[in-house]
Amino acid sequence: MKNTNVIAVANQKGGVAKTTTVINVGAALVLKGYKVLLVDWDPQESLSNFLGIYGAKNNIGSAMYNVINKSDFDISEYIIFNEKNGVSVIPSELNTMNKLEKDLISVRSKETVLRKVIKKVIDLDEFDYIIIDCLASLNVMLDNALTACDNVLIPCQAAPISYAAVPNLLLQIEDIKDDLNENLKVLGIVATMCERSNNSKMTVSMLEENYPDLIFKSKIDRMATAANSAITEKACVLSNAKDNKVAIEYRALVDELIERV
Ligand SMILES: Nc1ncnc2c1ncn2[C@@H]1O[C@H](COP(=O)(O)OP(=O)(O)O)[C@@H](O)[C@H]1O
Ligand SMILES: [Mg+2]
Repeated sequence: MKNTNVIAVANQKGGVAKTTTVINVGAALVLKGYKVLLVDWDPQESLSNFLGIYGAKNNIGSAMYNVINKSDFDISEYIIFNEKNGVSVIPSELNTMNKLEKDLISVRSKETVLRKVIKKVIDLDEFDYIIIDCLASLNVMLDNALTACDNVLIPCQAAPISYAAVPNLLLQIEDIKDDLNENLKVLGIVATMCERSNNSKMTVSMLEENYPDLIFKSKIDRMATAANSAITEKACVLSNAKDNKVAIEYRALVDELIERV
C-alpha cells in the first residue's frame, strides 16, 4: 500500500493564491516522480477550469451525493488525467456544489462525507499525494476538507487583510482536530504574492514573528507569469521562461513541504 498524504490548501479569504498553489505544488510533486490527485473543492470550478474542464457531470459534488445516498460507485470514473500538467483531478461543478452546501446541513455526520470519498481514492492505491483546493469559506464544506486531510497548507497573501484571516482559520483547525480528526496537522503558512511594498514586507515580518514554526522559508513573489499561466493551462513550474521566478519559488516550497509531511 502507498502511504497517501492528503493535503488541504485552505484560507477562507478568496484570491490569496490557493488554486495557484494547488496546481503548482501538484505539478512540482509530479516532476519529482510522485503520483498526484488534485480535488477541486470549490463551487467556483477555478481549478477545473484551469485544467480545461467545465461543468463535469462526474464531479466531487456528485461523488458526495453517492456517499450521502449510500449508492455504490466507482471513484475512478470521477478522476480525469491531465496530460499538460501530469496530474489527475476530480473536478467540481457549480450547481452540484451549491446544492450540496445546503443539503449537507441536514446530513448525519455532515463533516465526514468528503473523508469517505477520499478513502475510496486512497483505496485505489494509486496516489502519493491528494491535494484538496478548498473554497473561500469557514463553513461545513471547509469542515469536510479539514476532516478528510492529514495536513493543511495555508497560503497567505502578503497583505495585512489576508494576515488577519489566519488566526480564525487556525482556531477552526484546532476545533476539527479536537472533535473529528486528531491527527490533523498544519503543514505551514506560505506567503504569496509578495511585493516590494512596505505593507507586503510588514505582513511577511508579522507572519515570521508570530508563526515562526509554521511560516515556510520559501516565499512566492507576485509575478505576471503566475496569472498568465491560466491562459496556457500549464503550471508555472513546468515552464523554464527566464522571467518565471515563481516556478523556482514553488519548487523550493515543495522541497520544504516534502520534509514536513
Ligand atoms: N504569485 C502570483 N503572482 C501574480 N498573480 C498571482 C500569483 N498567484 C496567484 N495569482 C493570481 O491571483 C488571482 C487569485 O489566485 P487564486 O489562485 O485563484 O486564488 P484563490 O484560489 O485563493 O482564490 C488569480 O488571478 C491568480 O492568477
Ligand atoms: Mg481558488
